[in-house]
Amino acid sequence: MYQNSIEQPDVFWGEKAQWIDWFKFPQEILGTNQHGLPQWYADGELNTCYLALDRHVEAGRGDQTALIWDSPVTGNIVHYTYTELRSKTAQFAGVLHQLGVTKGDRVIIYMPMVPEVAIAMLACARLGAVHSVVFGGFAAHELALRIDDAQPKVLLTATAGIEVDKIIPYRPIVEHAMMEAHHKIPHAIMLQRSVHPENIEDSVFQDWYALLEAATPVGCTPVRATDPLYILYTSGTTGKPKGIVRDNGGYAVALRFSMEYVYGVQPGDVFWAASDVGWVVGHSYIVYGPLITGCTTILYEGKPIKTPDAGAFWRVIADHGVKVLFTAPTGFRAIRKEDPDGHLKNKYDISCLKYLFLAGERCDATTLEWASNLLNIPVIDHWWQTESGWPMLANPAGQTLLPVKPGSSAIPVPGFDIAILNHDHEPAAVGEEGAVVVKLPMPPGCLPTLWNAQDRFVESYLSAYPGYYFTGDGGYCDEDGYFFITGRIDDVINVAGHRLSTADMEEIVSTHKAVAECAVVGIADELRGQVPMGLVVLKAGATIEEAALEADLVQMVRDQLGAVACFKRAVIVQRLPKTRSGKILRKTIRAIVDQVPYSVPSTIEDMTVLDEIKGIIFRST
Ligand code: COA
Ligand code: AMP
Repeated sequence: MYQNSIEQPDVFWGEKAQWIDWFKFPQEILGTNQHGLPQWYADGELNTCYLALDRHVEAGRGDQTALIWDSPVTGNIVHYTYTELRSKTAQFAGVLHQLGVTKGDRVIIYMPMVPEVAIAMLACARLGAVHSVVFGGFAAHELALRIDDAQPKVLLTATAGIEVDKIIPYRPIVEHAMMEAHHKIPHAIMLQRSVHPENIEDSVFQDWYALLEAATPVGCTPVRATDPLYILYTSGTTGKPKGIVRDNGGYAVALRFSMEYVYGVQPGDVFWAASDVGWVVGHSYIVYGPLITGCTTILYEGKPIKTPDAGAFWRVIADHGVKVLFTAPTGFRAIRKEDPDGHLKNKYDISCLKYLFLAGERCDATTLEWASNLLNIPVIDHWWQTESGWPMLANPAGQTLLPVKPGSSAIPVPGFDIAILNHDHEPAAVGEEGAVVVKLPMPPGCLPTLWNAQDRFVESYLSAYPGYYFTGDGGYCDEDGYFFITGRIDDVINVAGHRLSTADMEEIVSTHKAVAECAVVGIADELRGQVPMGLVVLKAGATIEEAALEADLVQMVRDQLGAVACFKRAVIVQRLPKTRSGKILRKTIRAIVDQVPYSVPSTIEDMTVLDEIKGIIFRST
């Protein structure tokens, strides 16, 4: 199957396109877009909301549960059948339609894990509008950046999110962002949550349910396969997030295929991605993938621990008959820390669980082994990213499972011709580490471009290795063809499965009045995989104590980027390693932190600074 997908991609993906319903089946399977780059199903027409909801109702699946909202933080468990979810979505699409939202318009969604967030996404898809969900852990400035880039007609929000037992009021964040953004959003809608009601009379916000009552349901608007379904911003190597664009047709085909091939599920199965809709995992495997496949999906407003305890996952699995769980390794590290022997699992019958999938960050062998021993089912590390939209490396549960090798995300998924290229841009030898790239064309579902930034798209992903897409990750391949992803080779870090840019944090840190210059690097963390640490050089004459500076910087990063960055450490250094031309040697600092060998650049200004930095980093970790 894999060989076919690489040798005859048009035949392979032409066949897979038949797994979904089209309003107009594409004649052209693989073509070329106006930029000379590959594109899928260009003349096909469909509607992703139709695929996720209406089609199942029409096919007699209407009474099956489509979505379960499980919210330990509010004490709610609510089931929605496909018929109910379709009718709520059509009604909310009516709200957006009344406000003038049509095909191609953008809608920003800044909401917690409530069912209305999935309904809002699907309602946008129904209208052919483009949603952009912003993770609720991001601060006002990050939201403002996304508003300015996406230029939405409508913003959707709620009065609050809940972090374990802490209410996070959204209104001040949203108001601040709307003030800061240059783009003025015509309409803002707020969902009242009983845990935190807001008086929104005389405010810019309109009431979600008042609008809903007055709306008329609307049907599905046909869109072209290549029309955008959503923009999802992700961290790049600069402070400006990248707007990953996702199309409709290729994405639907890829998700449908992956649900069966990678995750081994069938229509009717219960699939749970314990993530957040603000991340790509939430888009692909809480909302679209399971629903397009006719599964039951779970939208969980809680954590692996503390809601109420480290048995939270087992309780959800048992209550809802989950067949496949997908989460980040950090979630399991958190459970192991609280309940090292996994005693809490014994309170529940979780025999329904057949596979555990882990992704979002490197999975350490200890966590993989702990989870395998505890659950006694295959634990599958698989690798992908916001840009790909679906797994690129995996051990395919829908086929014959290969033996698991801890530390490896296994083999390429059909459609992904993955290679490791060395410094000379040549294929690396077995076991030799290099840049992980994907030969063009990428299969359906992957990003066709960046929102309003085609040049940045080419520069970020396609120019380093002509003919290949550069993933930003390093890795190697062993003698059995298993791939091992060793980590980012750019300035992106992964904190508890959350992808963050150190450049973004550096921009914030460098605005402190005592800071002359800084470098932010990811340091190893037992729970979160990595956490950021700031290395700061003070301005001449600045007298601030390290502890006071650290407290200021921590607060600044929380306020401007968000608590999710977990920026908690900053140390004062006398100088940073630089080239003679003044460029900070971030790559070298990263290598020191990761304790991997590095070659000292010949352009370095002063070698002794490396030993100083080494001493400081290890003293403070
Ligand atoms: N809205 C507002 N704040 C948020 C937030 C959200 N959606 N998500 C996280 N935060 C805040 C947290 O409250 C915390 O704030 P604090 O510093 O004031 O305590 C901070 O951001 C860090 O959050 P987090 O990393 O989630 O830490 P935690 O201690 O609450 O939980 C884990 C630790 C490991 C349990 C948690 O990170 C987890 O479940 N990770 C899995 C990640 C995941 O699913 N990733 C998706 C990719 S698959
Ligand atoms: P995101 O775009 O937020 O999904 O983050 C994608 C990045 O997370 C990848 O480029 C990798 O650096 C990292 N990542 C995701 N899954 C894995 C995995 N299974 N093993 C190692 N790193 C991973």
